[in-house]
Amino acid sequence: MNETIEQLLHRNSAPKLTDPGPDRSTLDYMFRAAVRAPDHAWLQPWRFLTIEGEARAQLGEVFLESLLRKDPGADDTARSAALASPLRAPLMVVVICRYTEHPKVPRWEQVISAGCAAHAMMLAAEAQGYAAIWRTGSYAEDPLVAHELGLEDNESIVGFLYFGSREGRAKPLPERPVNDYVQAWAP
Ligand SMILES: Cc1cc2nc3c(=O)[nH]c(=O)nc-3n(C[C@H](O)[C@H](O)[C@H](O)COP(=O)(O)O)c2cc1C
Repeated sequence: MNETIEQLLHRNSAPKLTDPGPDRSTLDYMFRAAVRAPDHAWLQPWRFLTIEGEARAQLGEVFLESLLRKDPGADDTARSAALASPLRAPLMVVVICRYTEHPKVPRWEQVISAGCAAHAMMLAAEAQGYAAIWRTGSYAEDPLVAHELGLEDNESIVGFLYFGSREGRAKPLPERPVNDYVQAWAP
């Protein structure tokens, strides 16, 4: 089995991430992989925000505000979780779908393309010895969070990708016999 196939078959999200996060050169390859995502009409329907260091705590404040607007009575545990959520890894990358109206490329195709960029970025991180997890949740859907992150009206959050070094053991991967999912079409 070649290295690329090996890597594709063993990608494994890491819910617990710690220092070190990807260095500049690793990050450069991650973004270069991302922007090679399949992309109908080459619209490049994506952009990325890196959130590191102190900016993570500031995003935590935004998440807290988002939480309190939805649930003013949120208890201390929920408040602390909102504040701490961007601190779960040394680096967060916000993957944004930047939609362009096009006669042949509907919005869903552009969102999927941004999703492919996210996946490529995660694989590139793993290939270079780092780990990642893709998260969304209510903050990814909240217009307040989108506004604070500087999104335009034609943009939406596809994911908060967390990157760092895996903490703890990787989980065992599930058996997924491909015949459960693949059939030859017989007309
Ligand atoms: C679009 C998208 C959003 C996700 N959002 C979350 C999330 O908010 N929280 C979470 O724990 N996992 C989320 N996941 C799932 C994890 O990224 C991961 O796929 C899951 O834990 C299974 O692990 P595995 O990818 O190693 O199989 C999301 C996955 C996708 C594709």
